[in-house]
Amino acid sequence: MAIFPPSEKVWWNEPVERTEALWIGICLVWAMILFFMMPYWHIVGQQNLSNEAYKIPLADQGAESDPSQRFVGEAYEAKVEAYVAANTIREEGDTGIPVVKATDSGDVYMLGRLWDWYPILELEKGKSYRFHLSSLDWLHGWSLQPTNINIQVHPGYEMIFNVTPTETGEFGVVCNEFCGIGHHNMLGKIYVK
Ligand code: CUA
Repeated sequence: MAIFPPSEKVWWNEPVERTEALWIGICLVWAMILFFMMPYWHIVGQQNLSNEAYKIPLADQGAESDPSQRFVGEAYEAKVEAYVAANTIREEGDTGIPVVKATDSGDVYMLGRLWDWYPILELEKGKSYRFHLSSLDWLHGWSLQPTNINIQVHPGYEMIFNVTPTETGEFGVVCNEFCGIGHHNMLGKIYVK
């Protein structure tokens, strides 16, 4: 009970017990393993992408003169729409969603918003791409299925990362940051030919 003073006045200056020292050692070693797994897995696992993030300047976020009218996604949305308009090759079934083939420059654009990933992209196996990603509204999570790639997508920031698809097929994109009532329906798609 803490109402009484401890029997040993200098109670905190006891020698460390063997089991205690052992556990501290185990924890330290494990912490070091986890720490060095981060760079190791980046290089060997080829899954922890290094990405760049650029703040979209306020001047490009629209209605600079009236901050209450500011819409952070406007500039990025305009870029994606221009990209879609120039490079759409077909529509996805009867959904009307454009399927966009990457240009030779290697830049591909996708946006996240409540609640979809837009547009659908078509990439080629073995080609390298600079993948641009941003959100028009809230925080979303860009998770590529079935690979283990995860990117947080923030409004007001343009994320850019390099990808080189190593297998062909149809890849799904799901949202893995809870973003409201339509979160579970926030889907996207990437074809690799
Ligand atoms: Cu977007 Cu959850």
